Amino acid sequence: MGSLQVRLFLTYLFIIAVTLGLAMLSLFLMLGGYRDSITYGNLETLGPFVRTQVGISAPDVIESREPDDTVPLGADVLLNILGLREDAEDERLRTVTALAVIDSNGEVLPDAWAGPLPLGEATTVDITAPGDLATTSDISPRRCELDIPDGPALLCVAMPLRGLDGEEAFGPDAVGLVVATPAAGMGEVLGELTPRLLFAGLIGLAAALILGFLLSQSVAAPLRNIARAARNVGRGNYRQRVPVTGPREVRELAANFNRMTGEVQNSQQTLRDFLANISHELKTPLTSIRGFSDALIDGTIDDPDGIRQSARIINDESGRVLRLVEELLDLSRIESGQISMRRETLHLDEIFEHLSALFSLRCEEANVRFEVSNTTATPIEGDFDRLEQVLNNLLDNAFRHTPEGGLVRLTARDLHDGAVQVMVSDNGVGIPPEDLPHLFDRFYRAYNNRNGSRSGHGLGLAISREIVRAHGGEIWATSEPNRGTTFIFTLPIADRAGDRASVL
Ligand SMILES: Nc1ncnc2c1ncn2[C@@H]1O[C@H](COP(=O)(O)OP(=O)(O)OP(=O)(O)O)[C@@H](O)[C@H]1O
Ligand SMILES: [Mg+2]
Repeated sequence: MGSLQVRLFLTYLFIIAVTLGLAMLSLFLMLGGYRDSITYGNLETLGPFVRTQVGISAPDVIESREPDDTVPLGADVLLNILGLREDAEDERLRTVTALAVIDSNGEVLPDAWAGPLPLGEATTVDITAPGDLATTSDISPRRCELDIPDGPALLCVAMPLRGLDGEEAFGPDAVGLVVATPAAGMGEVLGELTPRLLFAGLIGLAAALILGFLLSQSVAAPLRNIARAARNVGRGNYRQRVPVTGPREVRELAANFNRMTGEVQNSQQTLRDFLANISHELKTPLTSIRGFSDALIDGTIDDPDGIRQSARIINDESGRVLRLVEELLDLSRIESGQISMRRETLHLDEIFEHLSALFSLRCEEANVRFEVSNTTATPIEGDFDRLEQVLNNLLDNAFRHTPEGGLVRLTARDLHDGAVQVMVSDNGVGIPPEDLPHLFDRFYRAYNNRNGSRSGHGLGLAISREIVRAHGGEIWATSEPNRGTTFIFTLPIADRAGDRASVL
């Protein structure tokens, strides 16, 4: 009972059973009325026929009566008509059960009654305005009902007796001739119809069972799949995909489940890559440190120059490890919002001047021209050191990838929408298009740098992006191999910074 499929199935069955029950009930009720109207229809054609027969046979009956006849004359006439039933050519005559003559109050005259049961005292025919029968010239039958005490309810039609031959046989009070036949009782209708309806009901029920099962299955099966897949995800198997089938809501659930497991799988993969990258980055310097320290300990290197050289390498490599760890910590703190940026009002000129001084020696050494220009009029709001860290990395990258005689440019300009744009461009080796979307991923080094210098860890741009975003800006790069690269980032100006920055 707990399962969704069983519940759905039982609900369908219940609805179908109620619908079938109601359909059968209304059918029974309608058929009851239908049977009555058929019976009345028959009586309406039979009535005039019987009336004519009465007119024809009454004079003969009167004539052929023995003087000592005990049956009342009226009843004798009617019995004579009923006697015709057996060999009547008209089928319908056989359905006549009782004949009676009524007075103007609708009461059956006891002397003029022919039927299977004796009449009680003052049996009355249920008919509207029986008195009219005495006066009307309309001989068409009128519908009525005749209740025989202790007997079945009879449907009947009544017609005026007036004008019939032998009318006087029924006595002076007689006004109407009644032809009666049993009303089909509900029981009879039920008895006749029940087996057929049961059969139809069984077929309906069988169809309902099959359809109910299929319908409930169409909802429950996809949900079962999702539940099974979710159980597997819980056990650490993230490669779960479920077929997107069933009703719309279930399909949406399946699609969302697939998206979710895809995301989980991706983040698991990212985590694995991250660990692999860190291990890889740590391995090289640690191997050097280990090698040189072993050599120092076992005395393989024992001359003073060698020892100094080894100590310097160990120092450099451990510095490298330390820098990596610091950068990683920095990145994760900015990402998680643990480090907040200072909100100082800054003129980019100040940062630019500082950077020109910082890189002046390097551009001379590398024989690369370095141009700095700033056309912004508005101050920005941000963290001096952090923004300098971003530009430091961009310029470091630019110098590193620009050959002798090249040009590195640092520029800034106002944008119309209340932001400033800072650009670092070079005319160096450029970045292949397939590397561009990944530049800002952690540990990503473009093709141009993969086997080359060991000076960077591929974390600079990831950190830069986090810093720029924490200032409410965005950073991106454009590049053409062998023609140069441009890094662009935006920063909101001072009075807008508060609206945009998320973690300032
Ligand atoms: N101006 C540029 N020209 C060509 N390639 C570039 C340029 N700037 C970045 N790259 C490529 O993008 C990669 C990622 O740069 P990023 O600053 O993130 O790392 P890194 O400089 O290698 O190391 P780190 O900055 O952590 O010391 C670089 O390794 C290099 O391949
Ligand atoms: Mg870098």
